[in-house]
Amino acid sequence: MQFQFLEPTEDFSDGLKVLYSYHEQFLERGRELLALVGRIISDGMNEQHAYQCVQLHCFYQRANALHHQDEERVLFPLIVHRSFLIDGMIERLALDHEEIEEAWVELAPMLGRPEHIVDREKLKRLALEFEKLQREHVTRENEDFFPTLEERLGPEQRIEMGEKMANLRKPGR
Ligand SMILES: [Fe+2]
Ligand SMILES: [Fe+2]
Repeated sequence: MQFQFLEPTEDFSDGLKVLYSYHEQFLERGRELLALVGRIISDGMNEQHAYQCVQLHCFYQRANALHHQDEERVLFPLIVHRSFLIDGMIERLALDHEEIEEAWVELAPMLGRPEHIVDREKLKRLALEFEKLQREHVTRENEDFFPTLEERLGPEQRIEMGEKMANLRKPGR
């Protein structure tokens, strides 16, 4: 099975909007993941469930890496060293990224090769853990961090962010 990753948005004219569109996708995919795991637990694995596992694997594998890169290499450097409050937030969010990535490393082999899943309870536990970390992190950014940024980043900086993010996606980067 081959899947292609589709960006949540094609429009990179405003970096902050790109980040918000990833957040929306993460919340939506998280709901899909939990629903899928519920069906696997109740009905067992079948071809359709396996297809959806691999599809989600393809999405997360690429989307999480790109999104963390956008925040750590483009957003954080742009606003760091402005206030203790923001620096504290950045530190906390970067730690969250590490935790999310660690949880993904555990879940990824199961989602990527669903035909080898033997322990469905383990799948459920890992999926719940990953989804919870991701959802809480996205909510924290949406509610506490991004509103602060909206006050501090001007339109030009948001355009610059979008350009840098688009550049990071060019082949060879
Ligand atoms: Fe983040
Ligand atoms: Fe984020």
